[in-house]
Amino acid sequence: MALDGKIAIVTGGAGGIGFAIAERFLRDGAKVVFADVNSDKGANALANLEQLGECRFIKADVGRRLDVHNLVAATIDTFGDIDVLVNNAGIVHRAEFLDLTEEDFDRVLRVNLKGSFLTGQAVAKFMVEKVEKGGTAGSIINMSSVNATLAIPDQVPYSISKGGVGQLTRVMALSLAQHGIRVNAIGPGSIMTDMLASVNDDPASRTRLLSRTPLGRVGEPSEIASIAAFLASDQASYITGQTIYADGGRLPLNYTVAVKPEK
Ligand SMILES: NC(=O)c1ccc[n+]([C@@H]2O[C@H](COP(=O)([O-])OP(=O)(O)OC[C@H]3O[C@@H](n4cnc5c(N)ncnc54)[C@H](O)[C@@H]3O)[C@@H](O)[C@H]2O)c1
Repeated sequence: MALDGKIAIVTGGAGGIGFAIAERFLRDGAKVVFADVNSDKGANALANLEQLGECRFIKADVGRRLDVHNLVAATIDTFGDIDVLVNNAGIVHRAEFLDLTEEDFDRVLRVNLKGSFLTGQAVAKFMVEKVEKGGTAGSIINMSSVNATLAIPDQVPYSISKGGVGQLTRVMALSLAQHGIRVNAIGPGSIMTDMLASVNDDPASRTRLLSRTPLGRVGEPSEIASIAAFLASDQASYITGQTIYADGGRLPLNYTVAVKPEK
């Protein structure tokens, strides 16, 4: 299997896309430590995931340096290595630009951008040391979004954070290339998880969303997990510094393509 023998950390793995990635990694032969800030969701997820392979849950807030330190240490204690990191934990906050508070701006940036930096740096330090001792290089995958590029006026800190994740990915890729460590990102469009529920449950919002999605449907978490499995594997050995967008064709849309009327 493509990930046989690899040890992976997945953040925000108790639900949605992170859970699907942990599931896919286990099916592909990896051992997985998944972190989440929600311990109830984590315990439920663990009950399902541990049936597929060797898996541990660590409660961690990726925005807290100490939690990240503990996550990395616990993974090394448990499985002795780290080959793959998926920086997937993320949150949204809806507010119009003029109404957005400083607290909500900081809260979203802290999880989505600072969390990816803290976890990415801690894991990269371990990976560099491993390479210097003759070990094999690893792969880091950051969860971006089409909102790294597309602006949504009531998703201010989210869009900014994902733009930052795109640059973080490129900077990390260049910094770590000399050690053979690859850093890439995945940019999902609209994927059926709790994060999308409020949009998906409102018929007008759903129609609007689908009117700008050429494939005409929302994506499944497993369709993001398959990209993560590829980027984590040795099959992606010459790819670094890239974002792979999986958005049903949304980003190529332009002013010559008609918006389908809302039904
Ligand atoms: N669903 C989509 O349409 C979509 C689109 C583009 C990008 N994304 C990105 O994919 C990632 C996963 O999103 P999802 O849709 O699965 O969301 P989700 O809300 O279903 O799952 C996110 C998980 O992250 C956890 N989490 C939140 N804050 C955390 C923290 N501080 N530390 C650790 N864990 C934390 C949550 O408890 C939850 O289990 C996010 O980075 C999101 O921005 C999602």
